[in-house]
Amino acid sequence: MSNSDVTSLNPRNIVAFLEDIFERRGSEEYLGEPVTMAEHMLQGAHFAEEAGEPEIIIVAALLHDVGHFTSEFGMFSMDDTKDKLHEEAGAQVLQRFFPSLVTDCVRHHVAAKRYLCATRPEYYSLLSEASIHSLNLQGGPMNSDEVAKFEANPNLDQIIRVRKYDEAGKQANFKTRPFSHYAPMIQRIVDAFELHQTD
Ligand SMILES: [Fe+2]
Repeated sequence: MSNSDVTSLNPRNIVAFLEDIFERRGSEEYLGEPVTMAEHMLQGAHFAEEAGEPEIIIVAALLHDVGHFTSEFGMFSMDDTKDKLHEEAGAQVLQRFFPSLVTDCVRHHVAAKRYLCATRPEYYSLLSEASIHSLNLQGGPMNSDEVAKFEANPNLDQIIRVRKYDEAGKQANFKTRPFSHYAPMIQRIVDAFELHQTD
């Protein structure tokens, strides 16, 4: 199934669709980082799992950058002069199948960086060079109005946790479990969401 077939996605084939994206496009470079896109997202899931997070957070960490593959705007590049909003594209693809906790973590993972840079000065020093480059394209640290608005999100805590697993998932030569390890977990989240929708 290709990206142009997204309208035929349903709760029974979404996990295979995501796995196919990881397999076909996962080896693409995560520009500016020593990991591929798949390694980056699998590492995010790995660190969430290691931290004892619930499945929903592990899945959010695994899928947080999926918008890089669904956005018509294409991949982030160090030469970009305009942010490409992969986080919104990712949330939009996922929102038919995943609860708002997952889509909030995806939608706001870029804003979370801007939030953390504004509220925790030590966080900035942890950012990679590529992450600082994109931070500047994304508007830099939040101002106080933006901080207040961001803190009103009921999923703030989870959004920030996923952001940290995102940041951690940039390690070269780091062995992770394959996508297939997470597939049943993703399916459980999709099934629970579907059940809730038809209540
Ligand atoms: Fe990421």
